[in-house]
This record gives sequence, C-alpha cells and structure tokens, in this order.
Amino acid sequence: MKKTLALILAACMSFSLVACGGGGENSTPNPGSQSTGGSQVSGSQTTTGGDAAGKTVGIAMPTQSLERWNRDGAYLDEQFKAAGYKTIVTYSDNKNEQQVNDIQNMLSQGVDLLIIAAIDGNGLNTVMNDAGAANIPVIAYDRLIMNDNVSYYVSFDNYTVGKLQGTYVKDTLDLDNAAGPFNIEFTGGDPADNNAPFFFNGAMDTLKPYIDSGKLNVVSGQTEFSVVGTEQWKTEAALNRAQNVLASYYSDGTKLDAWLCSNDSTALGVTQAVLSDYAGGNSVIITGQDGDVANLRNIKDGVQSMTVYKAVANEAVVTLDLAKAILDGKTADESLISASGWGFDCAFDTESYETTPGNKCPSFLLVPDVVTADNMEEKLVTPGYYKVGADGYLEATNG
Ligand code: BGC
Repeated sequence: MKKTLALILAACMSFSLVACGGGGENSTPNPGSQSTGGSQVSGSQTTTGGDAAGKTVGIAMPTQSLERWNRDGAYLDEQFKAAGYKTIVTYSDNKNEQQVNDIQNMLSQGVDLLIIAAIDGNGLNTVMNDAGAANIPVIAYDRLIMNDNVSYYVSFDNYTVGKLQGTYVKDTLDLDNAAGPFNIEFTGGDPADNNAPFFFNGAMDTLKPYIDSGKLNVVSGQTEFSVVGTEQWKTEAALNRAQNVLASYYSDGTKLDAWLCSNDSTALGVTQAVLSDYAGGNSVIITGQDGDVANLRNIKDGVQSMTVYKAVANEAVVTLDLAKAILDGKTADESLISASGWGFDCAFDTESYETTPGNKCPSFLLVPDVVTADNMEEKLVTPGYYKVGADGYLEATNG
C-alpha cells in the first residue's frame, strides 16, 4: 500500500523534475517556486480532512541547484498535500542566512510543524530556538541540525552509504586477494553538512586497513576529511581539486586506480577531471551517491562506476507518517515502523546521532542501495523511479 503510494509519487515527482528541467547544477526552479529562496505557499488539496485539516507544514529544502533536493521537495509537498495538509516549501539557494529567514517566515505564518534539510547544521540556532519556544516540532530531514529542539531525525543510514562505497572499491580491486598496490584518492562532502563526515568515515573505515597495510596507496597523502571536503558539494570545486591532484601527483604517469567520491555532484567533477587530465589508459573506479540523471548516464557510459541510491520517495513517506503521529499526539518510536506497513526497511535508532554532545536524537534511518550499470534497470526502472529514454539512458519517469 505504502509502496504503491511511493510509486505513484515517484511518477509525480518525476514529472516535476522534468518540468523543472532535469537537474544537476543547471536545474531551474519548479514552477511556482523561487530559485533564490523565499516562500512558496502551496494550496492544500483537503482530501482527507480529519486531523490534517487546517494544519500547515513548513518544508525547508537547501537548494534547487543539486538534483536530489528538487526530488525531495516535490515528494514531500505532494505527499503532505495529498494527506490534507497545507504546505509551505522553500529552497534557500544554499545560503544559510536565507534559510534562517525562510524558516522565520514559516514560523510567522503559523506553521504547525517544520521539516528542515539544513544547509548548515550549525547555522540554525536562532530559528530552532524560536521553534522550540513556540512548541513547534521539528523534523531534521536527511541532514541533522545541531540543536536540541530537533524532535526527530529522518535520513538514510549515512555511515552505511560510505561503507557501501568503500566496499565497492575493495571488492572491485579485490583487495583481499590481488597483489596490488593500488592508488586511490578521496573526495568528501560539505563540512557544513553533518552527513558528510559520516559518509567519509564509512568509506575510510572500510579502506583504512588496506591503506595501513600498503595495499592501497593515497598518492597525494590527502586522507583527512578536513582536506578532501568539498564546499557545498559543488561539482566545480571537486573538479578543481581533482585537477590539482592529478597535475601534482599523477602527471608523471603514476597509475590511478580509484577515486572515492562521497556523492554524485562531486563525482561529476572528478570524472570530468579524470577524463580531461588523467594520462593513464586504464578506467578509474569512481563512486557516487544519489542516482542523479547525469551520473546514471556516466555509469552507463562506463566513466563512473557506481552510485549509492537512496529512495527519497520512501524518506518522504516516513517523514509524512512521523509528522502525522507527532501532530496527532501519538507515540513516534519503533511502533511507528511496525504499524506502518511500509514496503521498505527502516530502523528506529536512538544511539547514532546527537544534536549536542550527549543529547541523542531519535532517528528513523532507511537503507541505501548500490546501483551499477549491471543492476540499474532492476533497481531504478523496475520500481518506477526512472524509465529508459529513447536514447537508452535513464530519465525521470513520465519524461
Ligand atoms: C545528502 C546527499 C547529497 C548531498 C548533497 C547530503 O546531505 O544526504 O544525498 O548528495 O547532501 O546534496
């Protein structure tokens, strides 16, 4: 039942993505919303009435310039409206001050609950404290906010995302059996995003034993998250750093075997750098995350190796059911999962995430999955998230 809903919404979302121009760095805004932020007030379709009637949910997304947040915003908006809530959806152009203003406006407009994917997990204290003072529940969506007024966190298991990327590299290079040594580089995410170190640590913890034993060699020596991070997950920043690393450490013919990238926007930049600036003739293993359309093309073309796919339609389903429980004054814990009938796995976790040291945040964590050229159709097309376009590449459903 819930799975069906997710599929229907996958189709709706895909339509929005097409309507807003596809994605990647050049995405244009959804019709009716403002690319530079500011609030888009969506009318409600009061289909269910009941407890939802008259309630407004504020949905604050970081930016429309990275493909996935268009998907998240569209899914959340659709699902909450279909359940009878009014919604206010904002995208804040990756600017923290703008997100603070957008959330402040939502509070002034009397929202009953906030769903926030933070641009800077440490940058929202003022509005979070205002929300706390007004008793407005806050769901930290995908990215945790470092403030104790967060009521719940809904995300994927971020450490596992990195583990899947590291394991892919380990298995593909057959690190347990092959003689090696192999050469690898790392590109991490935005230091302001609480998820980014989780991704990086999941990957690094998987590969570190091989680095320590000498089977894997990080030729640049750049193994610290603080050094390999990418401001705002920007493709261009990842491209520039990759070009510098290639020029400094690989221009003498040193072989590059793998480049572990934490997500697809950074993988795009690294792939571009490898294609243009790497002299070696071998194909380089490049990892990613999100299943962005441009990266799925690269995977099909064999210039990116894998992406970790996170079904954001399901993340939105969990967020909706959690929000309903909160707004209806019901218990929101493990029992939400058993009562839900969700057709996908989700864990209730009270240990892994802290909003401030010692303050654990109750979290609902979904399970990420590995997508490669070989299983792309089974993982993405069969469930209805994408379809195969006339040119053979995957595109948004209904595209
Ligand atoms: C999300 C990733 C995404 C990245 C950049 C992270 O917080 O979990 O899915 O690739 O932000 O948008």
